[in-house]
Amino acid sequence: MSASVLGDGRFELVVAAKERVAEAVVRVVLTRPDGVALPTWTPGAHIDLILADQLVRQYSLCGDPADGERWEIGVLHEPDGRGGSRHVHQVLDVGDQVTASAPRNNFQLVPAPEYLFLAGGIGITPILPMVRAAQAAGATWRLVYGGRRHASMAFLDRLAQYGSRVTIHPEDIHGQLDLASLLDIPRPDVAVYCCGPEGLLAAVESRCSAWPAGSLHVERFQPRPVGADDIAGAGTAGTAGTGDVAVALSEFDVVLAQSGRTVRVPTSLSVLEALEAAGVDVLSSCREGVCGTCETGVVEGEPDHRDSILTEEERAASGLMMVCVSRSRTPKLVLDL
Ligand code: FES
Repeated sequence: MSASVLGDGRFELVVAAKERVAEAVVRVVLTRPDGVALPTWTPGAHIDLILADQLVRQYSLCGDPADGERWEIGVLHEPDGRGGSRHVHQVLDVGDQVTASAPRNNFQLVPAPEYLFLAGGIGITPILPMVRAAQAAGATWRLVYGGRRHASMAFLDRLAQYGSRVTIHPEDIHGQLDLASLLDIPRPDVAVYCCGPEGLLAAVESRCSAWPAGSLHVERFQPRPVGADDIAGAGTAGTAGTGDVAVALSEFDVVLAQSGRTVRVPTSLSVLEALEAAGVDVLSSCREGVCGTCETGVVEGEPDHRDSILTEEERAASGLMMVCVSRSRTPKLVLDL
């Protein structure tokens, strides 16, 4: 094993470069200190960066997937955030060591005759390798990239090579993105990829509700707000919620298929927390349903999905759940653990 690979599959990396690429955005280049090739990744992938104790954040890889020596991320400074971006901007420096997970991809670029990419602000980062791949594949594609101001929009230099395929849309000059003209007529052959702030994602999801199932692909790095849909089908005992709406919760049992052991999940704990309290190891990272690390197979029972990753189709078909946030609609869930 290389000296820079930790026992849990994480990597010690070193910050090889850090530069400002737009107002409040830095590009950070990470390499392996031992020079060994980094794990491969595909467009849409992200890594966990363990910036400090209890400070784990997910960042999309925005460089070239063919570059096995360097990973690149772009980080927006969010002064009102929870400290990850502040750490990257104000503490992390060239030469520092950081720990990273292997790349994980919840935002895969699927084969399609045509692509429409929609990026808002720092949401451009996972889209960059996607347009590179679409261009290399000779696909028909278009990118509409919105931002608050031209100066706040990162990586414009990289996009210049694509000419008229890319529409740059600073809001202070052009107003909000005209999603109606882009999305109000469903186009069955077009795959739509969107990453950006919650307001953009929610608007795009709403506009695409009449599109064929599976057309829209979104990536969130903040939990989806809890809404009325989440209340439907939830139990009746206790309440909890991560957004504006309190959601009723019930107790239920989780049965571990491999041992037959039963763990009770009270209203005060997530499935993940109940499993950990019972001494059952499950990998986790974000613990808020956005990274996919805790994905677990469901053998029996009906999950109450509360993650921000799985699409409605995946929820219906995949037999998977994120145990850090999702619960159960049935008194018993049998999990592949
Ligand atoms: Fe990130 Fe569960 S730990 S989705």
